[in-house]
Amino acid sequence: MATDVEQLTRPAVRVSGLVRRFGPTVVLDGLDLEIAPGEFVALLGRSGSGKSTLLRALAGLDKDVAGSGGIAVPGNVSVVFQDSRLLPWQRVLRNVLIGLDGRAARDRGLAALAEVGLAGRERAWPVELSGGEQQRVALARSLAREPQLLLADEPFGALDALTRIRMHALLRELCERHRPAVLLVTHDVDEAIVLADRVVVLDKGAIAVDVTIDLPKPRSHRDPRFLEHRSRLLTALGVDDE
Ligand SMILES: Nc1ncnc2c1ncn2[C@@H]1O[C@H](COP(=O)(O)OP(=O)(O)OP(=O)(O)O)[C@@H](O)[C@H]1O
Ligand SMILES: [Mg+2]
Repeated sequence: MATDVEQLTRPAVRVSGLVRRFGPTVVLDGLDLEIAPGEFVALLGRSGSGKSTLLRALAGLDKDVAGSGGIAVPGNVSVVFQDSRLLPWQRVLRNVLIGLDGRAARDRGLAALAEVGLAGRERAWPVELSGGEQQRVALARSLAREPQLLLADEPFGALDALTRIRMHALLRELCERHRPAVLLVTHDVDEAIVLADRVVVLDKGAIAVDVTIDLPKPRSHRDPRFLEHRSRLLTALGVDDE
């Protein structure tokens, strides 16, 4: 039986020796990663490095993919993608409640919509919402499930710069309140540093860089330590910072 200390320190996510291949191509090659309960990890990596493959593996969406290795995740996982994946024929609240039943779930759905600033839009159709609003509905849909692990694959990638900044503030606030473990896939180094407790870089099938970002929040792009992290991560990604 686990001791209390083990219970307290047990990670929310534990990936060990994860291998995933598509035909002859090995995408994940013995990858190890742990995420603590309530910890926010951002995952960077070049295009095609296997970020989405890792996220899909954690979400249990890769049942038919060849591979091996250990994955332990909490029982309650939700996923947010780059597009909101709302059902166009369902109104906003119905979209948030997909797969959930009962009065308590409905109340959680209404509360989640209010938290993302969409109180009053419950009966709108997805087509009546902007891209940013649709992503907020997708976030509300995740929140209403009270996940212990939130997986997000470039959730702000399709949004304009200003909406992105607003979404960063919203996500940070929601995560601070609900404290899920988070794995956020992003191409955006600044987004990673602004939001995450830890930033990891995926390269050649494994975690090549793992940096703890212990800067106070909200974080300023002008903080010299922010710039140091950015420069180090850009180098790890093979991008020249100057
Ligand atoms: N279903 C699939 N069948 C065959 N190859 C695949 C499949 N899914 C992914 N791959 C390949 O695996 C590699 C990793 O893909 P993945 O989508 O995980 O990359 P990524 O890091 O998310 O890239 P991006 O930043 O462009 O989203 C790529 O070379 C891709 O072509
Ligand atoms: Mg991807």
